[in-house]
Amino acid sequence: MSWLITGAGGMVGRDLRDALAERGETFVALSRSDLDITDARIVDKVVRDVRPGVIVNCAAYTKVDAAENDERIANAINASAVEFLADAANAVDALLVQLSTDFVFDGAAREPYDVNAPTAPLSAYGRSKLLGEHAATHAKRSLILRTSWLFGAHGPNFVKAIRNQIGKGTNPLRVVNDQRGRPTYTPHLAEAVVRVVNGGATGVVHYADGPECTWFDFAREIVAQLGVGIDVRPVTTDEFPRPARRPAYSVLSTERYERITGVTPASWQEGLREYLTTSGTPHSPPRL
Ligand SMILES: NC(=O)c1ccc[n+]([C@@H]2O[C@H](COP(=O)([O-])OP(=O)(O)OC[C@H]3O[C@@H](n4cnc5c(N)ncnc54)[C@H](OP(=O)(O)O)[C@@H]3O)[C@@H](O)[C@H]2O)c1
Repeated sequence: MSWLITGAGGMVGRDLRDALAERGETFVALSRSDLDITDARIVDKVVRDVRPGVIVNCAAYTKVDAAENDERIANAINASAVEFLADAANAVDALLVQLSTDFVFDGAAREPYDVNAPTAPLSAYGRSKLLGEHAATHAKRSLILRTSWLFGAHGPNFVKAIRNQIGKGTNPLRVVNDQRGRPTYTPHLAEAVVRVVNGGATGVVHYADGPECTWFDFAREIVAQLGVGIDVRPVTTDEFPRPARRPAYSVLSTERYERITGVTPASWQEGLREYLTTSGTPHSPPRL
């Protein structure tokens, strides 16, 4: 089976490319400059040329706060373009894998969100991603893979932001302690995508690393692993207002993933260790 990755220049796209290459899978990886998924005609042409068995859409509008003022663009990339991919997948009988997010939930739950839990996004980004999930189901065979709190070598993320703060000499660090979720290392997610697809799953699957924690817990672990003497203090979301509302509790249940693959999700602390040892000096000062 051959794979087509769209948005292959992004944080997940690049790690998925590596995961497929490591396993000797056949794939074509196209970044935005190779294939703009909002162009229906080109999407159709490229998919018919490549004739993949599976399309993994890693392309997305991911600026959560900016989306509040840019909902039309977010919808064009995260939803309408997914319709084009679904149509193209149908033309060549391919499986369409659409990556989605914990932000489709409102965070009012107190136990992990099952794949069938009702969705109710709080933000423009979350709404656009939910529309994208609906669009993906127009493919005859679709897999919606929701994940959360990603960090990896190839994109902006929380670990990078904390390191930047440390590099700037911020001490103490103030980090929100009233949002719970599951941080996920993107190479672990890439492995999970390959496992779930090769396991023949369709429908909705959640993949996130374990265990659950708050951003404050996550920051404390980063500081501990870096071995720097920085004080981390818990604060509330209200003390750090952002344009887009985030769910207070967005812990994804990975039960279905575990049933399908027989594998327990990896540990984000292990992922963090790998990330910190492979992505440059631990707390380099800012460049002047
Ligand atoms: N990051 C997270 O914490 C998180 C959490 C849960 C779910 N997710 C989901 O995971 C998926 C991958 O996210 P990511 O973190 O890898 O995002 P990312 O690093 O922002 O990558 C997205 C890629 O899509 C590209 N892209 C944007 N518009 C495009 C278009 N019209 N045509 C083709 N490519 C386009 C971007 O290119 P440019 O950079 O050139 O715009 C970028 O390379 C997304 O579906 C996201 O919603 C992310």
